[in-house]
Amino acid sequence: MSKKVEDYVRSIPDFPEPGIIFRDVTSVIQSPEGLKLAIDGLTDLIGDTEFDVVVGPESRGFIFGVPVAYNTGKGFVPVRKKGKLPCETISADYELEYGTATIEMHKDAITPGQKVIIVDDLIATGGTTEAIIKLVEELGGEVVKVLFLMELEGLKGRDKIAGYDVESVIKYPGK
Ligand code: PRP
Ligand code: MG
Repeated sequence: MSKKVEDYVRSIPDFPEPGIIFRDVTSVIQSPEGLKLAIDGLTDLIGDTEFDVVVGPESRGFIFGVPVAYNTGKGFVPVRKKGKLPCETISADYELEYGTATIEMHKDAITPGQKVIIVDDLIATGGTTEAIIKLVEELGGEVVKVLFLMELEGLKGRDKIAGYDVESVIKYPGK
């Protein structure tokens, strides 16, 4: 039987700390078949949704967001960690397990009324995505879909971004 994309995800128990299973995507993208299944899986979830641009966060969101944009003939807007973008930016803070972090987007990256699809590798608590949505909407963009390769359903990240159209290629019931 042919392999599924989840067969390429390497699960590492107790990383980065005891009790956490780390879902590693390096094993997906280093395989030509895994990479194709991942990008095709994300692209298929778009269906007939009309949109203008893909937005994805540094760093793993770049890996999956850019090929989805390329596949669909759209551009890609990077969301970066603080201090990396050279032009005028807007920023949003979000919660990490310990403390907070800040992400930024160029002010001219989205024009009002543009329809945006957000792509990232993983939704855990949903904090990163919630901050990205805030940035997109601050610039007048409309988030029409949010796509993940993997979702950790036990962390209920989806609840944090209730009301948005959220889809994941792979769903893990736990954390
Ligand atoms: C990871 C992952 C998602 C985010 C999900 O990124 O790639 O972007 O965490 O977590 P959340 O739903 O709880 O916000 P991380 O910030 O570790 O950085 P990286 O992509 O640069 O590895
Ligand atoms: Mg990330």
